[in-house]
Amino acid sequence: MKFHLVTASILSLFLVACSEKSPSVTTDARPLEQAQTSLKDAYIDAFLIGAALNEDQIYERDSEVDDIITSQFNSIVAENCMKAENIHPEEDDFFWEEADAFIAFGLKNEMSIIGHTLAWHSQTPDWLFVDENGEDVSRDVLLERMQNHITTIMQRYKGKVKGWDVVNEAILDDGSMRESKFYEIIGPDWVEKMFIFANQADPDAELYYNDYSMAIPEKREGAYALVKGMQDKGIRVDGIGMQGHINLDGPTLEAFEESLLRFAELGQVMITELDVTVLPWPGTEVGAEVSMSVEFQDEFNPYRNGLTPAVEAHLHKRYVEMFSLFHKHADKIDRVTLWGVTDANSWRNDWPMDGRTDYPLLFDRANKPKPFVQEIITITN
Ligand code: XIL
Repeated sequence: MKFHLVTASILSLFLVACSEKSPSVTTDARPLEQAQTSLKDAYIDAFLIGAALNEDQIYERDSEVDDIITSQFNSIVAENCMKAENIHPEEDDFFWEEADAFIAFGLKNEMSIIGHTLAWHSQTPDWLFVDENGEDVSRDVLLERMQNHITTIMQRYKGKVKGWDVVNEAILDDGSMRESKFYEIIGPDWVEKMFIFANQADPDAELYYNDYSMAIPEKREGAYALVKGMQDKGIRVDGIGMQGHINLDGPTLEAFEESLLRFAELGQVMITELDVTVLPWPGTEVGAEVSMSVEFQDEFNPYRNGLTPAVEAHLHKRYVEMFSLFHKHADKIDRVTLWGVTDANSWRNDWPMDGRTDYPLLFDRANKPKPFVQEIITITN
Protein backbone atom coordinates (compact mmCIF):
# COMPACT_ATOMS: atom_id res chain seq x y z
CA MET A 1 0.00 0.00 0.00
CA LYS A 2 2.74 2.36 1.11
CA PHE A 3 4.74 1.55 -2.00
CA HIS A 4 1.75 2.34 -4.20
CA LEU A 5 1.21 5.70 -2.53
CA VAL A 6 4.85 6.67 -2.98
CA THR A 7 4.76 5.54 -6.60
CA ALA A 8 1.57 7.48 -7.12
CA SER A 9 2.98 10.68 -5.66
CA ILE A 10 6.17 10.42 -7.70
CA LEU A 11 4.04 9.89 -10.77
CA SER A 12 1.83 12.87 -9.99
CA LEU A 13 4.88 15.07 -9.35
CA PHE A 14 6.14 14.04 -12.75
CA LEU A 15 2.78 14.83 -14.35
CA VAL A 16 2.60 18.24 -12.67
CA ALA A 17 6.13 19.00 -13.87
CA CYS A 18 5.14 18.04 -17.42
CA SER A 19 1.87 19.94 -17.38
CA GLU A 20 3.54 23.02 -15.95
CA LYS A 21 6.06 22.92 -18.71
CA SER A 22 3.87 22.40 -21.72
CA PRO A 23 1.71 25.57 -21.52
CA SER A 24 4.76 27.81 -21.31
CA VAL A 25 6.19 26.16 -24.41
CA THR A 26 2.94 26.86 -26.32
CA THR A 27 2.68 30.41 -24.98
CA ASP A 28 6.24 31.28 -25.92
CA ALA A 29 5.62 30.07 -29.44
CA ARG A 30 2.71 32.47 -29.99
CA PRO A 31 2.88 36.15 -30.87
CA LEU A 32 2.40 38.47 -27.90
CA GLU A 33 -1.09 39.72 -28.72
CA GLN A 34 -2.41 36.18 -29.01
CA ALA A 35 -0.78 35.14 -25.77
CA GLN A 36 -2.76 37.78 -23.88
CA THR A 37 -6.13 36.81 -22.48
CA SER A 38 -8.99 37.54 -24.81
CA LEU A 39 -12.22 39.21 -23.76
CA LYS A 40 -14.20 36.00 -24.16
CA ASP A 41 -11.71 34.00 -22.08
CA ALA A 42 -11.46 36.62 -19.38
CA TYR A 43 -15.24 36.55 -18.93
CA ILE A 44 -15.68 32.82 -19.43
CA ASP A 45 -17.01 32.28 -15.91
CA ALA A 46 -19.05 35.48 -15.95
CA PHE A 47 -21.07 35.80 -19.18
CA LEU A 48 -20.88 35.48 -22.94
CA ILE A 49 -19.20 38.30 -24.86
CA GLY A 50 -21.05 38.98 -28.09
CA ALA A 51 -20.84 41.13 -31.19
CA ALA A 52 -23.40 42.14 -33.80
CA LEU A 53 -22.20 41.23 -37.29
CA ASN A 54 -22.90 43.16 -40.48
CA GLU A 55 -22.85 41.72 -43.98
CA ASP A 56 -19.10 42.21 -44.57
CA GLN A 57 -18.30 40.48 -41.31
CA ILE A 58 -20.65 37.58 -41.96
CA TYR A 59 -18.96 36.98 -45.30
CA GLU A 60 -15.48 37.42 -43.74
CA ARG A 61 -14.47 40.15 -46.19
CA ASP A 62 -11.81 41.64 -43.92
CA SER A 63 -9.44 39.15 -42.33
CA GLU A 64 -8.25 41.53 -39.60
CA VAL A 65 -11.81 42.13 -38.43
CA ASP A 66 -12.51 38.43 -38.75
CA ASP A 67 -9.57 37.74 -36.42
CA ILE A 68 -11.01 40.12 -33.83
CA ILE A 69 -14.41 38.46 -33.99
CA THR A 70 -13.15 34.91 -33.67
CA SER A 71 -10.49 35.62 -31.04
CA GLN A 72 -12.46 37.98 -28.76
CA PHE A 73 -16.13 37.00 -28.97
CA ASN A 74 -18.03 33.79 -28.24
CA SER A 75 -21.49 34.95 -29.25
CA ILE A 76 -22.89 36.67 -32.34
CA VAL A 77 -26.12 38.36 -33.34
CA ALA A 78 -27.13 39.53 -36.80
CA GLU A 79 -27.13 43.32 -37.07
CA ASN A 80 -29.69 43.33 -39.89
CA CYS A 81 -30.05 40.14 -41.92
CA MET A 82 -32.69 38.45 -39.77
CA LYS A 83 -34.98 41.49 -39.60
CA ALA A 84 -38.29 41.01 -41.41
CA GLU A 85 -37.55 43.41 -44.29
CA ASN A 86 -34.33 41.49 -45.04
CA ILE A 87 -35.33 37.91 -44.45
CA HIS A 88 -39.00 38.06 -45.49
CA PRO A 89 -39.33 40.88 -48.04
CA GLU A 90 -42.49 39.51 -49.71
CA GLU A 91 -45.17 37.23 -48.37
CA ASP A 92 -44.00 34.26 -50.43
CA ASP A 93 -40.34 35.14 -50.50
CA PHE A 94 -37.82 34.41 -47.79
CA PHE A 95 -34.26 35.57 -48.40
CA TRP A 96 -32.10 33.04 -46.58
CA GLU A 97 -28.66 33.50 -48.07
CA GLU A 98 -27.16 35.98 -45.61
CA ALA A 99 -28.87 34.56 -42.53
CA ASP A 100 -27.67 31.07 -43.49
CA ALA A 101 -24.11 32.43 -43.82
CA PHE A 102 -24.46 34.10 -40.42
CA ILE A 103 -25.53 30.82 -38.82
CA ALA A 104 -22.74 28.92 -40.60
CA PHE A 105 -20.20 31.45 -39.29
CA GLY A 106 -21.39 30.92 -35.72
CA LEU A 107 -21.42 27.14 -35.98
CA LYS A 108 -17.97 27.05 -37.56
CA ASN A 109 -16.56 29.11 -34.70
CA GLU A 110 -18.57 27.35 -31.98
CA MET A 111 -20.31 30.53 -30.90
CA SER A 112 -23.64 31.09 -29.13
CA ILE A 113 -25.87 32.37 -31.91
CA ILE A 114 -28.62 34.89 -31.17
CA GLY A 115 -31.53 35.62 -33.51
CA HIS A 116 -32.60 39.26 -33.87
CA THR A 117 -35.49 39.94 -34.22
CA LEU A 118 -38.84 38.26 -34.95
CA ALA A 119 -41.36 41.03 -34.29
CA TRP A 120 -40.47 44.74 -34.41
CA HIS A 121 -42.17 47.91 -35.65
CA SER A 122 -39.03 48.93 -37.59
CA GLN A 123 -37.36 47.38 -40.63
CA THR A 124 -40.55 45.42 -41.25
CA PRO A 125 -42.06 45.34 -44.75
CA ASP A 126 -45.46 46.92 -45.40
CA TRP A 127 -46.94 43.80 -47.02
CA LEU A 128 -47.35 42.24 -43.57
CA PHE A 129 -49.98 44.73 -42.54
CA VAL A 130 -52.03 45.31 -45.70
CA ASP A 131 -54.20 43.41 -48.16
CA GLU A 132 -54.08 43.61 -51.97
CA ASN A 133 -56.02 46.93 -51.85
CA GLY A 134 -53.60 48.49 -49.41
CA GLU A 135 -56.12 48.29 -46.54
CA ASP A 136 -55.10 47.07 -43.08
CA VAL A 137 -55.60 43.33 -42.72
CA SER A 138 -57.71 41.87 -39.91
CA ARG A 139 -56.30 40.76 -36.55
CA ASP A 140 -56.61 37.12 -37.61
CA VAL A 141 -54.74 37.63 -40.87
CA LEU A 142 -51.88 39.48 -39.18
CA LEU A 143 -51.67 36.81 -36.47
CA GLU A 144 -51.56 34.10 -39.10
CA ARG A 145 -48.85 35.94 -41.06
CA MET A 146 -46.76 36.46 -37.95
CA GLN A 147 -47.15 32.85 -36.89
CA ASN A 148 -45.95 31.78 -40.32
CA HIS A 149 -43.06 34.29 -40.19
CA ILE A 150 -41.91 33.20 -36.73
CA THR A 151 -42.39 29.47 -37.30
CA THR A 152 -40.64 29.37 -40.67
CA ILE A 153 -37.56 31.25 -39.43
CA MET A 154 -37.24 29.55 -36.05
CA GLN A 155 -37.69 26.06 -37.44
CA ARG A 156 -35.07 26.59 -40.13
CA TYR A 157 -32.48 27.35 -37.44
CA LYS A 158 -33.79 25.00 -34.74
CA GLY A 159 -31.00 23.55 -32.64
CA LYS A 160 -28.54 26.16 -33.93
CA VAL A 161 -29.78 29.36 -32.31
CA LYS A 162 -29.42 29.72 -28.54
CA GLY A 163 -32.12 32.35 -28.20
CA TRP A 164 -34.30 34.87 -30.04
CA ASP A 165 -35.24 38.48 -29.48
CA VAL A 166 -38.86 37.56 -30.05
CA VAL A 167 -40.28 41.05 -29.60
CA ASN A 168 -38.23 44.21 -29.90
CA GLU A 169 -39.21 47.65 -28.55
CA ALA A 170 -42.91 47.26 -27.76
CA ILE A 171 -42.83 49.70 -24.81
CA LEU A 172 -42.43 53.50 -24.95
CA ASP A 173 -40.29 55.55 -22.58
CA ASP A 174 -43.35 56.40 -20.43
CA GLY A 175 -44.03 52.70 -19.87
CA SER A 176 -47.09 52.53 -22.11
CA MET A 177 -47.35 50.23 -25.11
CA ARG A 178 -46.10 51.57 -28.43
CA GLU A 179 -48.95 52.10 -30.86
CA SER A 180 -47.29 50.20 -33.65
CA LYS A 181 -49.10 48.48 -36.51
CA PHE A 182 -48.97 45.27 -34.45
CA TYR A 183 -50.69 47.01 -31.56
CA GLU A 184 -53.23 48.78 -33.77
CA ILE A 185 -54.28 45.69 -35.69
CA ILE A 186 -53.89 42.89 -33.13
CA GLY A 187 -54.43 44.80 -29.89
CA PRO A 188 -52.54 44.91 -26.57
CA ASP A 189 -52.16 41.12 -26.45
CA TRP A 190 -49.99 41.16 -29.60
CA VAL A 191 -46.76 40.66 -27.66
CA GLU A 192 -47.94 37.57 -25.83
CA LYS A 193 -49.16 36.07 -29.11
CA MET A 194 -45.63 36.38 -30.54
CA PHE A 195 -44.13 34.58 -27.53
CA ILE A 196 -46.75 31.82 -27.79
CA PHE A 197 -45.93 31.33 -31.49
CA ALA A 198 -42.19 31.33 -30.74
CA ASN A 199 -42.54 28.76 -27.98
CA GLN A 200 -44.58 26.52 -30.28
CA ALA A 201 -42.04 26.89 -33.09
CA ASP A 202 -39.04 25.93 -30.98
CA PRO A 203 -39.60 24.95 -27.35
CA ASP A 204 -35.86 24.54 -26.85
CA ALA A 205 -34.73 28.02 -27.91
CA GLU A 206 -34.55 30.77 -25.32
CA LEU A 207 -37.05 33.59 -25.81
CA TYR A 208 -36.28 37.22 -24.96
CA TYR A 209 -37.99 40.60 -24.75
CA ASN A 210 -35.56 43.33 -25.92
CA ASP A 211 -35.76 47.14 -25.66
CA TYR A 212 -33.77 50.37 -25.41
CA SER A 213 -33.63 53.06 -22.68
CA MET A 214 -34.49 50.41 -20.13
CA ALA A 215 -32.96 52.44 -17.30
CA ILE A 216 -35.79 55.01 -17.49
CA PRO A 217 -37.90 54.17 -14.41
CA GLU A 218 -41.27 54.30 -16.22
CA LYS A 219 -40.00 52.18 -19.06
CA ARG A 220 -38.40 49.73 -16.62
CA GLU A 221 -41.74 49.24 -14.91
CA GLY A 222 -43.63 49.01 -18.21
CA ALA A 223 -41.30 46.29 -19.50
CA TYR A 224 -41.34 44.53 -16.13
CA ALA A 225 -45.15 44.50 -16.07
CA LEU A 226 -45.36 43.27 -19.66
CA VAL A 227 -43.03 40.33 -19.08
CA LYS A 228 -44.37 39.51 -15.61
CA GLY A 229 -47.92 39.57 -16.99
CA MET A 230 -46.99 36.99 -19.61
CA GLN A 231 -45.12 34.78 -17.17
CA ASP A 232 -48.06 34.87 -14.74
CA LYS A 233 -50.24 33.50 -17.54
CA GLY A 234 -47.77 30.67 -18.12
CA ILE A 235 -46.30 32.17 -21.30
CA ARG A 236 -42.59 31.50 -21.54
CA VAL A 237 -40.24 34.51 -21.57
CA ASP A 238 -36.73 33.48 -20.52
CA GLY A 239 -35.00 36.79 -20.32
CA ILE A 240 -34.86 40.50 -20.92
CA GLY A 241 -32.43 42.31 -23.19
CA MET A 242 -31.35 45.80 -22.17
CA GLN A 243 -30.03 47.20 -25.44
CA GLY A 244 -27.44 49.57 -24.01
CA HIS A 245 -27.17 52.30 -26.65
CA ILE A 246 -25.81 54.75 -24.13
CA ASN A 247 -23.71 57.92 -24.02
CA LEU A 248 -20.84 59.14 -21.88
CA ASP A 249 -23.00 60.23 -18.95
CA GLY A 250 -26.42 58.71 -19.35
CA PRO A 251 -28.01 56.68 -18.05
CA THR A 252 -26.42 56.77 -14.62
CA LEU A 253 -24.85 53.58 -13.31
CA GLU A 254 -27.39 53.59 -10.49
CA ALA A 255 -30.39 53.71 -12.82
CA PHE A 256 -28.90 51.01 -15.04
CA GLU A 257 -28.19 48.82 -12.02
CA GLU A 258 -31.69 49.30 -10.69
CA SER A 259 -33.18 48.03 -13.96
CA LEU A 260 -30.74 45.16 -14.14
CA LEU A 261 -31.77 43.98 -10.68
CA ARG A 262 -35.45 44.50 -11.37
CA PHE A 263 -35.31 42.46 -14.59
CA ALA A 264 -33.27 39.74 -12.91
CA GLU A 265 -36.38 38.99 -10.82
CA LEU A 266 -37.97 37.70 -14.04
CA GLY A 267 -35.14 35.64 -15.54
CA GLN A 268 -31.81 36.14 -17.19
CA VAL A 269 -30.67 39.63 -18.16
CA MET A 270 -28.64 40.41 -21.25
CA ILE A 271 -26.93 43.59 -22.32
CA THR A 272 -27.75 43.13 -25.97
CA GLU A 273 -26.61 46.15 -27.97
CA LEU A 274 -23.89 47.97 -26.12
CA ASP A 275 -22.27 51.05 -27.64
CA VAL A 276 -21.26 54.38 -26.12
CA THR A 277 -21.62 57.45 -28.32
CA VAL A 278 -19.28 60.37 -27.62
CA LEU A 279 -21.06 62.75 -29.98
CA PRO A 280 -23.39 65.59 -29.05
CA TRP A 281 -27.01 64.55 -29.18
CA PRO A 282 -28.97 66.47 -31.82
CA GLY A 283 -32.44 66.16 -30.35
CA THR A 284 -34.57 66.19 -27.26
CA GLU A 285 -35.58 62.55 -26.90
CA VAL A 286 -32.63 60.28 -26.13
CA GLY A 287 -33.04 56.64 -27.01
CA ALA A 288 -32.52 54.35 -29.97
CA GLU A 289 -35.59 54.87 -32.12
CA VAL A 290 -34.13 53.97 -35.51
CA SER A 291 -36.63 56.08 -37.45
CA MET A 292 -35.11 59.24 -35.93
CA SER A 293 -33.19 61.15 -38.58
CA VAL A 294 -31.62 64.59 -38.24
CA GLU A 295 -29.98 66.46 -41.11
CA PHE A 296 -26.17 66.59 -40.97
CA GLN A 297 -24.72 69.66 -39.24
CA ASP A 298 -21.01 70.18 -38.85
CA GLU A 299 -21.15 71.31 -35.22
CA PHE A 300 -22.54 67.90 -34.28
CA ASN A 301 -19.48 66.20 -35.71
CA PRO A 302 -16.62 67.57 -33.57
CA TYR A 303 -14.22 64.59 -33.62
CA ARG A 304 -13.82 63.82 -37.31
CA ASN A 305 -10.03 63.90 -36.90
CA GLY A 306 -9.82 62.11 -33.58
CA LEU A 307 -10.89 62.41 -29.96
CA THR A 308 -9.54 64.94 -27.51
CA PRO A 309 -7.63 63.39 -24.57
CA ALA A 310 -10.43 64.49 -22.24
CA VAL A 311 -13.13 62.68 -24.22
CA GLU A 312 -10.90 59.65 -24.62
CA ALA A 313 -10.44 59.51 -20.86
CA HIS A 314 -14.18 59.91 -20.35
CA LEU A 315 -14.96 57.03 -22.72
CA HIS A 316 -12.32 54.90 -21.00
CA LYS A 317 -13.87 55.57 -17.60
CA ARG A 318 -17.40 54.94 -18.84
CA TYR A 319 -16.55 51.55 -20.38
CA VAL A 320 -14.62 50.39 -17.33
CA GLU A 321 -17.46 51.44 -15.03
CA MET A 322 -20.06 49.68 -17.17
CA PHE A 323 -18.08 46.43 -17.31
CA SER A 324 -17.38 46.64 -13.57
CA LEU A 325 -21.12 46.87 -13.01
CA PHE A 326 -21.78 43.91 -15.31
CA HIS A 327 -19.08 41.87 -13.60
CA LYS A 328 -20.49 42.69 -10.18
CA HIS A 329 -23.80 41.18 -11.32
CA ALA A 330 -22.35 38.36 -13.40
CA ASP A 331 -24.63 35.87 -11.64
CA LYS A 332 -27.63 37.63 -13.19
CA ILE A 333 -26.20 38.39 -16.63
CA ASP A 334 -26.01 35.78 -19.35
CA ARG A 335 -24.46 37.84 -22.13
CA VAL A 336 -22.98 41.25 -22.95
CA THR A 337 -23.11 41.98 -26.68
CA LEU A 338 -21.45 44.93 -28.39
CA TRP A 339 -23.47 46.44 -31.24
CA GLY A 340 -20.69 46.09 -33.78
CA VAL A 341 -17.00 45.25 -33.85
CA THR A 342 -14.97 48.34 -34.77
CA ASP A 343 -15.82 52.05 -34.80
CA ALA A 344 -15.54 52.08 -38.59
CA ASN A 345 -18.81 50.23 -39.13
CA SER A 346 -20.88 51.28 -36.16
CA TRP A 347 -24.45 52.39 -36.92
CA ARG A 348 -23.72 55.30 -34.56
CA ASN A 349 -21.78 57.05 -37.33
CA ASP A 350 -25.04 57.39 -39.25
CA TRP A 351 -27.72 57.50 -36.61
CA PRO A 352 -29.48 59.72 -35.77
CA MET A 353 -27.42 61.91 -38.12
CA ASP A 354 -25.82 60.60 -41.26
CA GLY A 355 -22.08 60.89 -41.92
CA ARG A 356 -20.52 61.59 -38.51
CA THR A 357 -17.41 60.09 -36.91
CA ASP A 358 -18.19 58.32 -33.65
CA TYR A 359 -16.08 56.12 -31.35
CA PRO A 360 -18.60 53.86 -29.62
CA LEU A 361 -16.98 50.41 -29.61
CA LEU A 362 -14.02 48.47 -28.17
CA PHE A 363 -11.91 48.36 -31.36
CA ASP A 364 -10.79 51.42 -33.31
CA ARG A 365 -10.71 52.23 -37.02
CA ALA A 366 -7.30 50.59 -37.36
CA ASN A 367 -8.77 47.37 -35.91
CA LYS A 368 -6.79 47.81 -32.68
CA PRO A 369 -8.22 47.29 -29.21
CA LYS A 370 -8.66 50.57 -27.35
CA PRO A 371 -6.50 50.99 -24.23
CA PHE A 372 -9.43 50.25 -21.93
CA VAL A 373 -9.94 46.75 -23.38
CA GLN A 374 -7.03 45.50 -21.28
CA GLU A 375 -8.57 47.15 -18.22
CA ILE A 376 -11.94 45.54 -18.95
CA ILE A 377 -10.12 42.20 -19.06
CA THR A 378 -8.34 42.94 -15.79
CA ILE A 379 -11.66 43.51 -13.97
CA THR A 380 -12.16 39.75 -13.95
CA ASN A 381 -8.96 39.03 -11.99
C1 XIL B 1 -29.72 49.14 -36.41
C2 XIL B 1 -28.58 48.67 -37.31
O1 XIL B 1 -27.39 48.71 -36.57
C3 XIL B 1 -28.47 49.56 -38.53
O2 XIL B 1 -27.53 49.05 -39.45
C4 XIL B 1 -29.84 49.69 -39.21
O3 XIL B 1 -29.75 50.59 -40.29
C5 XIL B 1 -30.90 50.15 -38.24
O4 XIL B 1 -30.94 49.26 -37.12
N1 XIL B 1 -32.12 48.77 -31.92
C6 XIL B 1 -32.12 47.53 -32.49
C7 XIL B 1 -31.23 47.25 -33.64
O5 XIL B 1 -32.77 46.62 -31.96
O6 XIL B 1 -31.77 46.31 -34.52
C8 XIL B 1 -30.88 48.52 -34.39
O7 XIL B 1 -29.91 48.20 -35.39
C9 XIL B 1 -30.37 49.58 -33.43
C10 XIL B 1 -31.42 49.92 -32.42
